[in-house]
Amino acid sequence: MSDGFSLSDALPTSNNPSAPPPQGWPSWGNQPPAPGGFPPYAGPPGTYPGAPGAYPGAPGPYPGGPAGHGLYPAPPGAFPGAPAGPGPHPAPGQPRSGPGFGPPPPQAGPAPPMKVPFELPLQAGLMPRLLITITGTINPKPNRFSLDFKKGNDIAFHFNPRFKEDNRKVIVCNSMFQNNWGKEERTAPRFPFEAGKPFKLQILCEADHFKVAVDDAHLLQYNFREKQLDKITKLCIAGDITLTSVLPTMI
Ligand code: GAL
Repeated sequence: MSDGFSLSDALPTSNNPSAPPPQGWPSWGNQPPAPGGFPPYAGPPGTYPGAPGAYPGAPGPYPGGPAGHGLYPAPPGAFPGAPAGPGPHPAPGQPRSGPGFGPPPPQAGPAPPMKVPFELPLQAGLMPRLLITITGTINPKPNRFSLDFKKGNDIAFHFNPRFKEDNRKVIVCNSMFQNNWGKEERTAPRFPFEAGKPFKLQILCEADHFKVAVDDAHLLQYNFREKQLDKITKLCIAGDITLTSVLPTMI
């Protein structure tokens, strides 16, 4: 079912419901705020709480992320282990040659694809205003892929585009508790993924539901069945996609 709200509606703020969206927030469709909706996030924009000070006891800005980064793999251009200081670099335009030159250093360029299945630890769990941005490419001849937000073995939110279910494309959302799947939600009004095409998939955690946008357009929302957000500490991504980046931020 469509939510019936204009895509230009932004996340309501405490004093101006029609204020422009905070940075990083696509102009998705929106639902009216839930009664007693979540208060504005008090931390610095862009930081997943867990940053020192923002979330007592949490270890770093991106709990579970390597070296405090939430972006997997390293941001474009950064190369773990790349030489920091001057090295035996050839002059511009000169080939590297001669004794003493080992294999060429890593070249700047697009980050390599990430392995799938992929697991993003979310040490502080989910919370309202946590936005997870996933970029990748659908494989050729895909069957399905899925995101699973997990609380232990339970799946709080399973988002599962299927490319050939009885020769149709459908997005299935569901939850699994104690190894039992619940009632499927198949209400997405469109199927925005295409074989071989890149995509940007964003999941926003709100006060009582997830909101999903693809390529900056709202797609669907999924009401929480698991309400203990702080216990949902893992995002698993699997299936017929190539992953480029997975980035949790706060908006
Ligand atoms: C099952 C499928 C699971 C999951 C579930 C969702 O049929 O095997 O992987 O997608 O549906 O309801």
